[in-house]
Amino acid sequence: MKILSKILCCQETKVFIGKNALENAASEIPEKAKVFLIRQDVLDPTPIRSAFKNIVAEFVLKGGEESKDIEIVLKIAEKMHSVGIQRSDYVVAFGGGTLLDVAGFVSSIYLRGVNLVNIPTTLLSMVDAAIGGKNAVNFRGIKNVLGTFYQPSIIIADTLFLNTLPQAEFVNGLAEVIKYAFTLDYELYNFLKRNFENVLSRDEEALEYLIERSILNKLSVVEKDVFDVKDVRIVLNFGHTVGHMIESLSNFSVSHGKAVAVGMVYELMISTEMGITKDYVLKEAIEMIKVYGLPTSIRELNVDIPKNLETLKAVISKDKKAGWRGLTLPVVVDIGVWKPLTVNIDSYVEALANALNRC
Ligand code: GLY
Repeated sequence: MKILSKILCCQETKVFIGKNALENAASEIPEKAKVFLIRQDVLDPTPIRSAFKNIVAEFVLKGGEESKDIEIVLKIAEKMHSVGIQRSDYVVAFGGGTLLDVAGFVSSIYLRGVNLVNIPTTLLSMVDAAIGGKNAVNFRGIKNVLGTFYQPSIIIADTLFLNTLPQAEFVNGLAEVIKYAFTLDYELYNFLKRNFENVLSRDEEALEYLIERSILNKLSVVEKDVFDVKDVRIVLNFGHTVGHMIESLSNFSVSHGKAVAVGMVYELMISTEMGITKDYVLKEAIEMIKVYGLPTSIRELNVDIPKNLETLKAVISKDKKAGWRGLTLPVVVDIGVWKPLTVNIDSYVEALANALNRC
């Protein structure tokens, strides 16, 4: 087991990674502090109940987008108030990315902020959503419109929870790990290339290594740009401009990991064409994405590509990196090396349409 520590936004975030992380991290909670557990309905709460001795109440969240709503946040706050949760107490969030969004948001606004412990249960949420303090919920059907930046004090990435994760869910998370390798971490890229059998069979040591590397990469990016305003944190969105477009065109039937995997390929095709990315990188990325069982072309997904450029532009313009300056994207220069690039939306949409028509 590994412990990492970072000061983010003037406060320490401690990350416990690997086997037995849960027990070790739980002992950090002061004995007298009350614990309010927010947990996913389908997950067995037994390990959490035995690790945290002072759980005074639980809020059970259903999976799916309906739970990620401000009305649910208000219900949780009401329950926290009814059991007397104070600022020095702890919210423990046990679940995947959606649950962590809801728990992070309520923890940030309740009494202007209560201690938060994130316990992600999918690989995707261990290497991404649980780290960095971003959260958002929906309001009257408007997706992710309310949110805050709020750093958890403890993050527990215990590999115990990955034992029962379906393979498709596990592979979904690997797309984000591949993202870290290509943008920030040549060593992780080498590891993923040489150890695919161990990774895919979820060998304990291999898992611990790739989770730790991914978390270290994310923490070091977030540390430099906590509030996502300096064109640094945007590196985490490599593959996501096209990925979000695919998710949206598929009405969210394509998983995030598959959409990001295909997104990375098209974004690399465009930047290679622009002469920014070294020629060999695209081939390496396609090979790695395939080895890990993820798609590399939109044709492998059940998504209709809009024929007209205006429709494509309308979807891309909703990207959070689009604004009056144009579209600012993270572009891979070489494996493990990236830079931000601001492009004109019309030219980017044209380049994307060409790439989508090619393969
Ligand atoms: N998931 C992207 C970020 O945390 O900035």
